[in-house]
Amino acid sequence: MFARKILNSRKESTIEVNYKGSNGSAPSGKSKGKHEVKDYNKSLDEEINSLNKLQESIEKLNIKEFSDLKKIEDLTKNLGGNTRIALEFAILKKNGGYKWLKGGKIPTPVGNAIGGGAHFKGKSTNFQEFLLIPKEKTFFDKSFLNMKIHRDLQEPIEKLDKNFLLQMTDEGAWAPNLNDEQVLEIMSKFCKEHNVNLGLDIAANSFWDGKHYVYRDKKLTREEQIDYVNDLIKKYDLFYVEDPLEEEDFEGFAKIKNTMVVGDDLIVTNLERLKKAVKLKSIQGVILKPNQAGSLIKLKEVLDFANKNKITSIISHRSGETLDNSISHLAVGFNIPYIKCGILGKERQAKIKELITIEKELGFITIK
Ligand code: PGA
Ligand code: ZN
Repeated sequence: MFARKILNSRKESTIEVNYKGSNGSAPSGKSKGKHEVKDYNKSLDEEINSLNKLQESIEKLNIKEFSDLKKIEDLTKNLGGNTRIALEFAILKKNGGYKWLKGGKIPTPVGNAIGGGAHFKGKSTNFQEFLLIPKEKTFFDKSFLNMKIHRDLQEPIEKLDKNFLLQMTDEGAWAPNLNDEQVLEIMSKFCKEHNVNLGLDIAANSFWDGKHYVYRDKKLTREEQIDYVNDLIKKYDLFYVEDPLEEEDFEGFAKIKNTMVVGDDLIVTNLERLKKAVKLKSIQGVILKPNQAGSLIKLKEVLDFANKNKITSIISHRSGETLDNSISHLAVGFNIPYIKCGILGKERQAKIKELITIEKELGFITIK
């Protein structure tokens, strides 16, 4: 086993671990929740050194089953979430990926087609992600439709944003200089035409100043934000709404109705926060990000609790990604119904292509 530095899709340094010939690497977020596990407890270089010093002890551990990852947790308890996740991803790969786990269902892709917010430096939408959730039968067809719609969105965007220069967000979504409702108008038309569900990651925390939700053209109080989001759900028939309010407003989330309300910054893949959300009826869906949880065992505990309480799980990439495709394997291996992994860009395609390969391997599709 050895660890080293690589660059992620945002050209930030991150950790890659090689475990007995298999690689795992960690992503990093930009619109992070306050309560996430820390990426690194020390500097990246120090963490890499510390992990490399554990080489012998890690290689000696007898990791046979998923639950044996508890031994990795214990051995690396002083290290950050990214360091442990990169190592655990490598171990997952070495043990056969999804085959090591018990599942076998292919998830539905939740594809980010247009976006802005914290994921784009220039002038863009307030909402972070406008999402496509196709209803086709196979993952192959769903992901292909997402790509086709992404491509076809260029034309209506150019009609509205005369200075559009094909700029994209960190996740490879178009980043036009338009307001949220202009984008919703365009997207809902495409969704109706192609029989696709429409979703939003509002990532409201990123434009909450402690008193107001600050938009490019308005400022809303908490109550006004709740009404506004509920109106948008009705008007645009939104199937999925992630983080409609700031990360501490569990009660406010419960006031968003008639859609799948999803907690990302609200829950940060943390069991205690999910318990609170279930008690307060805040959400119907939960984002699972391995490095938010800081270990795969913790991620599984959150998933199990969500399943028990009929909360839908969505496993997710981060805005700063690597070529690692472990989330695809976790989705299938744990029967997670949705995966958020972007549409275009090589780091996003790495996850999508792996799922198409698995779908073929499991006999759900035949590609000649
Ligand atoms: P992040 O954003 O990876 O920048 O935290 C992704 C998301 O909010 O879903
Ligand atoms: Zn989010």
